[in-house]
Amino acid sequence: MENSIYDPEYVKGLFDRMSDSYERMNYLTSFGFSIRWRTQFLKSFKKPEDKVSIIDLLTGMGETWQATKNRFPNSDLIALDFSSEMLKYAMHKNRTKFNNQITLVQQDILRNDLPSNHFDFVTCAFGLKTFNDEQLNFLAKETNRILKVGGQFSFIEISKPTNRLLKALYGFYLGQVIPVLGKLLLGDPEEYRMLWKYTDKFENAKRAQGIFENTGLKTEFISYFYGCASGFYGSKGS
Ligand SMILES: C[S@@+](CC[C@H](N)C(=O)[O-])C[C@H]1O[C@@H](n2cnc3c(N)ncnc32)[C@H](O)[C@@H]1O
Repeated sequence: MENSIYDPEYVKGLFDRMSDSYERMNYLTSFGFSIRWRTQFLKSFKKPEDKVSIIDLLTGMGETWQATKNRFPNSDLIALDFSSEMLKYAMHKNRTKFNNQITLVQQDILRNDLPSNHFDFVTCAFGLKTFNDEQLNFLAKETNRILKVGGQFSFIEISKPTNRLLKALYGFYLGQVIPVLGKLLLGDPEEYRMLWKYTDKFENAKRAQGIFENTGLKTEFISYFYGCASGFYGSKGS
């Protein structure tokens, strides 16, 4: 059933199985752009004067932490994910590179018990595609709930570029080449074929942006490198 690919248990299993190779593959699937995009998607946040409380949703193994700490050295960073295997790598990174200063939370964001009106910033990189519209709607409401009034958020996701030639090339690369690389690195290309399936259905962040707007958040759409990634950012009004 189509909707079963959005079943949280299925998604969790997928990332548990991909955890050994995810970081390398993430770099490859974005042609190495993911590092730059992680820095870029944080630029929408206004530089705070005081210490800020940040939550990185769908944190994976903490791929965005370095960019976040570079931009906001004076911050409390909380990182949430539900995959125990991704979090094992995140814990290792926390210990070896961040002096255990990051608070890890293992929870499903769709069934979380995070406090309301609490965070100054919500960040989320490359996690939107495995949510269907109903789940995106819930995610939007939760973002609204956990942010302080005036708090800001930024989401980014791999997307299908608008340019036809680039779209065909990128589709071939993600749909055909990456699964082969996945097989070489992993022995099983299916997980990486699934990532393309999600991207194919996701298209770009426009629909998710609309869903966020409908919950009362003010948002701006942003495209990265000819639409190979896209996202939106904004703030919670009073
Ligand atoms: C594509 S990875 C992105 C990881 C990281 N943010 C990055 O920038 O590369 C998506 C992550 O979202 C997590 N995830 C997906 N659905 C989730 C949910 N409902 N609750 C918590 N984590 C979830 C997965 O376990 C996975 O680690």
